[in-house]
Amino acid sequence: MKKEITFTLNNEKVVVEVDPGWTLLYLLREVFELTGTKEGCGVGECGACTVIVDGDAVSSCLYPVLEAEGKNVITIEGVAASDGTLHPLQQAFIDNNGVQCGYCTSGMIMSAKALLEKKAVPTEEDIRTSIAGNICRCTGYVQIVESVQQAAERMKK
Ligand code: FES
Ligand code: FES
Repeated sequence: MKKEITFTLNNEKVVVEVDPGWTLLYLLREVFELTGTKEGCGVGECGACTVIVDGDAVSSCLYPVLEAEGKNVITIEGVAASDGTLHPLQQAFIDNNGVQCGYCTSGMIMSAKALLEKKAVPTEEDIRTSIAGNICRCTGYVQIVESVQQAAERMKK
């Protein structure tokens, strides 16, 4: 039987009927059609599905949809400014070749965003720890770490 939940999605209040067995990832992609959040492994190991819930980066493929009730959920679609200006993290990933195939990128940016919201001046270790749950098969991670470092620098100004 479906249940109604209410939560904030990318700064807008939403009310939606969900099947209690769904994951947050399913709701985001299949109901809201926010397909920037990717499904990789589906079992909490790759980080492609990372979104921010109440300030923390979470694997939406493991997040029971009913748990979203009353929460503040941000996906990659909610990261740029309302006029379309890219978030400094998005711009830095472009500028530093932090993106190759792009499959991991949404999750990487969400993990890094959660970090920068808590720690504006992160160490390299902080950055590496924040994306430890995000697997990238393409970049070797160096450009990704550099992207986050540059975004942090730009956001300080
Ligand atoms: S799809 Fe969620 S961690 Fe891999
Ligand atoms: S850019 Fe391809 S998986 Fe990271």
